[in-house]
Amino acid sequence: MKLDRALGLMREVPDFPRPGVVFRDLTPVLADPDALRAVVDGLQGTVHPDTQVVAAVESRGFLLGAALGYGWRYGVVPLRKPGKLPAVSHRVSYALEYGEATLELPAEAVLPGQRVVIVDDVLATGGTAAAACELVEAAGGVVTGVSVVLEIPSLGGRERLAGRGVSALMAV
Ligand code: PRP
Ligand code: HPA
Repeated sequence: MKLDRALGLMREVPDFPRPGVVFRDLTPVLADPDALRAVVDGLQGTVHPDTQVVAAVESRGFLLGAALGYGWRYGVVPLRKPGKLPAVSHRVSYALEYGEATLELPAEAVLPGQRVVIVDDVLATGGTAAAACELVEAAGGVVTGVSVVLEIPSLGGRERLAGRGVSALMAV
């Protein structure tokens, strides 16, 4: 399936998770086997060739990150919400479009000098991706880029990540 047809399956949900927010829902894209394949292949096309590890952001980044890691032999490291990991090496708190959040990096998951791509479904304000970069670098990793399926440019994520290689398959 072509990427634009796959991304056409995205659903817009008004007033979620709170009034006034239009939530872009990629669930129907991931639920379609051909669209899932097109999106994962598309993401792989954005990954820098020297990359060794995918850092996948909880929760929806896990789906994409694991598929990329399996398909192209990257290791996969989950960046998790608080209280989930038995051993944490670093923790970063940040502001979201709708609230506050914290991400944690598992102990001994990213080694100094390792080349790591950050993978998530959506780039909105960029707070999550910036925190992900900070976590990887705190462990001594080198961020090779930030790859997402969908960017919401009006929320300024790309500006917040200035200087990073940001790749999005689609912008709305
Ligand atoms: C969403 C999305 C990204 C983040 C993007 O996750 O999956 O991780 O928000 O927003 P930002 O660019 O403004 O930081 P959410 O925190 O809703 O968690 P979920 O994947 O567990 O639903
Ligand atoms: N969709 C999915 N995730 C998000 C969104 C959205 O519209 N905004 C912030 N995170």
